[in-house]
Amino acid sequence: MKIIRHFTVSSYHSSVEVSRNLYRGIDFLNDRSLNKGLSFSLEERQELGILGLLPAAYRTAELQEQLCVNWVQHIKEPIQKYIYATELWNRNERLFFRLLARHTSIMMPIVYTPTVGLACQHYGEIYRKHQGLFVTINDKDHVLNVIYNWPESHVKVIVVTDGERILGLGDLGAHGMGIPVGKLALYTALGGIQPYKCLPVVLDVGTNNESLLKDPYYVGVRKKRPPMEQYDALVDEFMKAVVKRYGQDTLIQFEDFGNANAFRLLKKYKDVFCVFNDDIQGTAGIAVAGLFASQRITQKKLHENKILFFGAGGAAMGIADLVALSIMKENKVSKEEAAKNIWMIDIHGLLVSQRKEPVDDHLKVYAHDHKPMKGLLEIVKELKPNTIIGVSTVGKAFTPEVIKELATINDRPVIFALSNPTEKAECTATDAYTHSEGRCVFSSGSPFDPVTVHGKTFRPGQGNNAYIFPGVGLGVIVSGMHHIPDDLFLIAAQTTAESVSEKDLNEGALYPPLSEVPKLSVEIAKNIMEFAYNSDLATAYPKPADKTTYIKSQLYDYCYQNNLAHKYNYPS
Ligand code: NAI
Repeated sequence: MKIIRHFTVSSYHSSVEVSRNLYRGIDFLNDRSLNKGLSFSLEERQELGILGLLPAAYRTAELQEQLCVNWVQHIKEPIQKYIYATELWNRNERLFFRLLARHTSIMMPIVYTPTVGLACQHYGEIYRKHQGLFVTINDKDHVLNVIYNWPESHVKVIVVTDGERILGLGDLGAHGMGIPVGKLALYTALGGIQPYKCLPVVLDVGTNNESLLKDPYYVGVRKKRPPMEQYDALVDEFMKAVVKRYGQDTLIQFEDFGNANAFRLLKKYKDVFCVFNDDIQGTAGIAVAGLFASQRITQKKLHENKILFFGAGGAAMGIADLVALSIMKENKVSKEEAAKNIWMIDIHGLLVSQRKEPVDDHLKVYAHDHKPMKGLLEIVKELKPNTIIGVSTVGKAFTPEVIKELATINDRPVIFALSNPTEKAECTATDAYTHSEGRCVFSSGSPFDPVTVHGKTFRPGQGNNAYIFPGVGLGVIVSGMHHIPDDLFLIAAQTTAESVSEKDLNEGALYPPLSEVPKLSVEIAKNIMEFAYNSDLATAYPKPADKTTYIKSQLYDYCYQNNLAHKYNYPS
């Protein structure tokens, strides 16, 4: 009698348990985690029963990679590039991640900002196949059942959005799914986290976007967002269900929530679950990394900078708080003292204690004693900042006059135009370098091409959270942390700044090339691991003797595996 043995594909692919007898040859072509396309060897084709299902040619992974790069470059429309990349992922996972990891500067702007913004705006039209989990307001009281429908049982990182504030594009409801999907693609490509450990989620509570509610192609719940009580109940149920299925050490990254909910939820869950908010804390990490690196050019210590934020939302608060934390630790001062040189402007003008418009409680520490003022140029002339950080979603707000004024006040003005997508950036790299006669220290949220001013070519650094969150996530997972203190983002910022070479700085870049991010992620994870064990926050024991070697042993490998391992490891 033939004995049917079960084997676990998870030993090197995913955690889906299959019976060898049920897994047919064709599944190796249809399952994206197993498919290699024309890279199946003749022996594999014979043994797996797929001979004849493919044309005779054999292609190396390198040849496939080159062909894909050629296609991406050949396709003109960004949205078509996004569709191509998504289809590649659905077809051949390792090839997709190979491309993303090895051609990050070409692929990242497609799966992440700026093109992902466009993809979310057109999500209903380009929707082809399920990706991620939609937990809707109609699932109240049975969220756990929905979570159990996800086929993977070893999820360790969840990126979740409720779609209320997608990039700088506003409420896109369920169409925000592109964001968690894109972020998790980067977790794998740049942080080495296995794809089956990643789960993108949209909490679909409806949308207040009237045009989406009327759009026949809208894929989400066609309702307005619910009152806070109902909303909170769903989020709460979701958080508990995640822990129930996947454990307390499952990292939950909040992404692109509306401002009010982003703060509330972070405050509520920070010490209860393993959570962070990337828009607040991840942005802070990358911006502070840029500030740390800029010190090597301006020769000013962090507390010696006068920093003016244009925009006082989630991103601004996160950055300001991390700057303050760094100053507090470095200079052993109170938060009030650390906040002394940090100023903010919002839609009503300068945040000051005397103004009639309200100032949110968490921002009061940055609302100094000063007369109320409006108009960025006037405020710059009055305060004379040496650093200006744009997080307002107001494209071109840093006018030539503002940039010229900053360059008049400072020898090396620091200008960060962080708003996404590209058209929302407060200024372009060309504007910043041209109007400051090439003297500014510039960074942006969306990518800009190199700029030549006065015969010198600058490579503008993209102050992208993608330098930070993959390494933080990796560090949290390998340490088995249950909570995420702000210190992790300071560690990540410091590690990132230290990875910037003199050559990068000379070229005007405050960040290393994107191709360095996988290496940087391991370094960040190692430093986080050290912090976690030293401060008793790690739960992964035994403690690895050599942390870097241990982390590297955990990383996803986009190189094709030998599918015949099944045959030799699991005899039928
Ligand atoms: P938010 O909506 O919470 O905050 C926007 C702020 O800008 C508010 O304080 C608002 O009052 C202010 N503002 C709006 N119009 C203004 C005007 N005309 N004059 C002065 N202030 C004005 O948004 P959030 O989350 O802070 O994000 C802001 C931008 O930063 C977005 O474009 C987002 O994409 C970008 N961002 C970039 C990241 C990066 O990696 N570079 C990461 C996170 C956010």
